Amino acid sequence: MKNSIKRIIDSRLKSKCKTYGYGDDLLGVMLTAAKSNEYERKMRMDEIIEECKNFYYAGQGTTSILLTWTTMLLSLHQGWQEKLREEVFNECGKDKIPDTDTFSKLKLVMFIFIVLLAGEEKGFLTPINLADEHGVDGVASSVRTRD
Ligand code: HEM
Repeated sequence: MKNSIKRIIDSRLKSKCKTYGYGDDLLGVMLTAAKSNEYERKMRMDEIIEECKNFYYAGQGTTSILLTWTTMLLSLHQGWQEKLREEVFNECGKDKIPDTDTFSKLKLVMFIFIVLLAGEEKGFLTPINLADEHGVDGVASSVRTRD
């Protein structure tokens, strides 16, 4: 893990350019801080590597559990599975690999992720049932109400 991160950092350091510096994402911001002359902003390389590891583990575990949970619930609710598949095919086509532009068009897919996350927080056992009973608008107002 440490070596993979080091390789990414090295290639970013090499690709520094006049206009964008080290880039405007988190790694770019941290590398700018590492190379800064201001003592308070300076980050050591081992701190940057630790921060990248932290992001990797925090993002990987949560995302894979959400995807597993979503797949499990969609296998129990095949009507919703069909609706989501239809939306993905309509927006992305059958041959195209989805990208960030197409993701932003997947309203129903995003809605289901939000229902599952909010349902978990509120202790709903099968939050997707709510979508069946109350429809998309009903669930949207239900997850907005935080009691
Ligand atoms: C479904 C996906 C995710 C869920 C449910 C989730 C949930 C959470 C929760 C509940 C916290 C704690 C917030 C707190 O302490 O108040 C947290 C913190 C954090 N998450 Fe996520 N997360 C998700 C995805 C991600 C992803 C993709 C990344 C990185 C790419 C990430 C990076 C982090 C980091 C770095 C923190 C610590 C923030 C801090 O130190 O203040 N998370 N997340």
